[in-house]
Amino acid sequence: MRKLNISGNWKLNKTLAETKALLAVLKSELAGVKKTEIVVCPTYVSLATSAEMLIDSNIKLGAQNLFWEESGAFTGEVSGLQLKAIGCNYVIIGHSERRQYFGETDETVNKRLKSALQNELLPIVCVGETLEEREIGKTFDIISEQVQGALSGISKDEMQKITLAYEPVWAIGTGKTATPEQAQEVHAFIREKLTKLFGNSVAENVTIQYGGSVKPSNAYELLSQNDIDGALVGGASLDVESFAAIVQAAENIEG
Ligand code: PGA
Repeated sequence: MRKLNISGNWKLNKTLAETKALLAVLKSELAGVKKTEIVVCPTYVSLATSAEMLIDSNIKLGAQNLFWEESGAFTGEVSGLQLKAIGCNYVIIGHSERRQYFGETDETVNKRLKSALQNELLPIVCVGETLEEREIGKTFDIISEQVQGALSGISKDEMQKITLAYEPVWAIGTGKTATPEQAQEVHAFIREKLTKLFGNSVAENVTIQYGGSVKPSNAYELLSQNDIDGALVGGASLDVESFAAIVQAAENIEG
């Protein structure tokens, strides 16, 4: 059975002081969690302090993005080399907000992914269709294109370090969740695609998270689906009780 992974994407929220306060409570609240992989992704400016706070805890640290060059004249960017050096374990790549507001493409996702792997960060690669794409019946074409584009040139060995996140854009921050059946259908499609690209044994072991308005009330049902192996949680990850309840839902899944 694949290990479930619950990751909190804090987006552009929390000052350093607020981050420290939230992490302190999360650490004690989640200290007893054994089976589930837990990741939190605060903003860049809080990462170094967060890394220190999370030493010896069962919570892993992730960044929300990285640049593909390691250093040089790239004002305003942060590299995988730097993230690894301060103790980051994970990095989110290609979130739909980056695609929508910051010009991210499948090609730049691919460059970031390769840089993450080179720097021994565990990537969480996001894919997902917009409402319009779903309504005109393009969901599977878009997902297929995004998966293929993101993973271009990736080896079987590298694929084993990558987590994918299916996040329908229409479900992010809207309160509208994909039904467990809708999500499972796309997750199964992604795994089938991975089977074609990397073979069955690799595909079977890839963690595919669902993201988009995951909350305590829908987490268990979503996580119960065969091909849903975790959640990428935005809004609900900023609240200790909600995030802890989602992690607990993962802990309660048999297997
Ligand atoms: P949400 O965000 O849980 O607030 O919908 C999920 C995400 O964007 O990763």
